Parts: sequence; C-alpha cells; structure tokens
Amino acid sequence: MNMPCATAMAGNRELTGRRILLGLTGGVACYKAAELCRLLVKAGATVQVMMTEAACQFITPVTMQALSGRAVFTSQWDARSPDNMAHIRLGRETDLILLAPCSADFAARLALGRADELVSLTCLARPRGVPLLVAPAMNREMWDHPATQRNLAQAQADGAQVLGVGHGEQACGEVGDGRMLEPWALYEAVAAHLSPKILAGQSVLITAGPTYEAIDPVRGITNRSSGKMGFALARAAQQAGARVTLVAGPVHLPTPYEVQRVDVQSARDMLQAVQQHLPEKGIFIATAAVADWRSAEVAEQKIKKDGDARNSFLQLEENPDVLATVAQSPQARSGALFCVGFAAETEKLLTHAQAKRQRKQVPLLVANLGPATFGKDDNALLLIDEQGAVEWPRASKQALAQQLVAEIARRLPDNLAT
Ligand code: CTP
Repeated sequence: MNMPCATAMAGNRELTGRRILLGLTGGVACYKAAELCRLLVKAGATVQVMMTEAACQFITPVTMQALSGRAVFTSQWDARSPDNMAHIRLGRETDLILLAPCSADFAARLALGRADELVSLTCLARPRGVPLLVAPAMNREMWDHPATQRNLAQAQADGAQVLGVGHGEQACGEVGDGRMLEPWALYEAVAAHLSPKILAGQSVLITAGPTYEAIDPVRGITNRSSGKMGFALARAAQQAGARVTLVAGPVHLPTPYEVQRVDVQSARDMLQAVQQHLPEKGIFIATAAVADWRSAEVAEQKIKKDGDARNSFLQLEENPDVLATVAQSPQARSGALFCVGFAAETEKLLTHAQAKRQRKQVPLLVANLGPATFGKDDNALLLIDEQGAVEWPRASKQALAQQLVAEIARRLPDNLAT
C-alpha cells in the first residue's frame, strides 16, 4: 500500500504555489478523485475542479468544492467567470490539467476535439505549454475495445499523457484492466510532472535499508536502518527524470512511483544485485547500512540455548563492501559512474567520514549521525568532498533528497551531464 508515501509527501507541502485544474468526467472512479483532490490540496497546490454533467451524477460539486476550497465549474455558460469564458480562463490559469477519471466517452471526445461542454472545451482551448494528464477509468471490455485504444492513442498523439490503467476488480464486479490508478499514484505522477528534469536521461542505482545476515532459520544480524533516506532519494531522482533502480534490504516501505525495486537480504545478495543492475554509465548512490559481518556458518536448524550455542561462539566473516567494489570498478574509474557514499557514525562525524571518503574513493560522501536519524522522517547531513565539508541543517528526508539530487546533478562530470 503506497498511500502513506503520497500522504507523507503531501504533508511536506511540496506543491505549494502549483495550480492544478482537475477535471472529472463520468465514472464510478469519481469517488477516488475526492481523495486525490485532498492529497493535492494538502501538498499546498491550488486545485480548481471542473466537472462534466455525467461526473455530477457520481459525486456532487459540493463535495469537490468542500475539498478544494473553491467553487466548482460545471458549465461553459457559468456566468461567474467575469468574461463568461471559463473554458479559456481555466486553461490559462493552471500549471497542469489532470482528467481523473477520464471515461471512455470522454476519451472519444478528446480524440475528436469536441467542444460542446466545459471540460472538453477547456482541453481543446488549453495553451500548448499546459500539460494534459489523462487517467482513464472504465470497464475492461470498454478499455480493450479498439475504439477506446484508438481514441487514447489519438489523444496521446495530440499531446496528452495517459496515466495507467490499473488492473484488478472493477465496480461492475469483473476483473481486468481499466481501473483508474489509485489517488497516491496520480498524486505522484503530478508531482513528478511538475519537477524540473535535472536528471533527464540518467540511470541511477541506489542501495537502501539494512541487510540481514542469517545465523539460523530464525535469527540474524541486522541494524536499525529504516531505508527512508534511500527511498526518498529514489523518488527524488525519478521525479528529476532519471531511470531509477532501488536495491533494497528488508524494509517496510512502499516502492516509489515508477521506480524499479530489487529486494535483497544479505550483503552478498546486495552486491550481486548491484552488479547485475549497475548501468554502464550513470550514478550510483549507496545509502544502505550494509552489515559488515556475517556468520561464517548458517545453522540449518534453530540453535538451542541449552546446547550448541554456548559451545560454539559465533564465528564471523567479513562481508564485501558494495560501495568500495563499485567505486573501484572499471566503469567508475573511467568516469562513467558517479559514486556517492553515505556514512552513519555515532561520534567524530567529520573525522570518520573524511577517512571513509578517502578509503572508499568516492568523490562525494554524505555523513550523518546514524542512531539519531534511523527511522526518523528528518535528518541533518554533512557533505564531504575533496574541498572540505558543508553542513546541511535538519530538514525532512524528502526535502534533503531533492536537494541532494540537485547537488549531484550539478556535480556530474561533463561526460555524464545531459
Ligand atoms: N557500504 C557498502 N558495503 C559495506 C559497508 C558499507 O556498500 N559492506 C557503504 C554504505 O552503503 C555507505 C558507506 O559504504 O555508503 C559507508 O558505510 P558505513 O556503514 O558508514 O561504513 P563502513 O564502511 O561499514 O565502516 P565502519 O563500520 O567502520 O563505520
């Protein structure tokens, strides 16, 4: 369930100052538009709602007005618009139009360029610079029908971006494609769309979370890393236009929107997954708190306290260092990979982190006081490079992740910059 992710982001008011024109057309999924509207408003966006007559059969304008805090437009003849041209004004006074839900009928209207009611008029009259995002919602047979596919392909060819659709149980009781994406996913699509694409075309691989080194079938060595910083970075890099792969240890976090996730357990699994997914050219960010040691032997059965455990003291073997291995790979050495390390320390932050940067041979190392931040939603960072160290004061991990992505984009060597 990814909802907490969008809810947490919305709490950051990351869409402050953004204007979104939310268009509802006829479909049961209108009830999800109410939740979406709430998420957008909570994130600081100004949301103006417009609804077709059919949408008003599914949810009332009163509900959408209460959630958006603005009077809803339902007709092109609405005299509230000073010049009586709501369809022109609405499209001029927004950063983005999102149609959610977009019915099969409305997709046909878009494809034909119809202009006989407010929502289609507004879409047709929108300035070319205003993105149109379309979230279809319909029965699976309607979705599969060649006419619908043709209409949506036409709408895309005319500049719209289609979001989804989802698969699953439908309001009619059938199961298949055609569900509207969930509000959190639409929220994420909007947030990503409005982010500057400073990593466009880049490939980013991120490690996150702890690793788990088994001792026996029920016990293991791990640590308190929550993975939040790495997941926040994955989201920020995706929003910045990068293709992102996230190699995650055992964490309880939802996968960020449009991020490829590879789940692993041990440090050795993590190294293998990283080597498998490492781009030829791109960015590698190691936020994972990798266990330095593993048990030399993994017992097949649970070790009993009244016998073998006391006799056999745990023998440890050192794990591979994922970051150091990547930083010393031919790709990194040739300059095709920009590597960023993290350091979790409990004392002497600067001294330990500077030594770690030298040891791991990374151009940039981001240090923090581990136990004080594990599991928290905020953090304070120390950025260390060959010039010295810069402190970034405490802020939300999401905000720091966006800042760090911008910093990495600025530091990319010429051969990597897009
Ligand atoms: N790291 C790694 N593989 C390891 C250990 C660490 O990839 N086996 C990476 C971490 O992801 C982080 C950086 O190296 O980017 C530093 O990790 P940290 O745990 O702070 O340091 P260690 O190298 O483990 O050193 P120490 O335990 O002595 O602090």
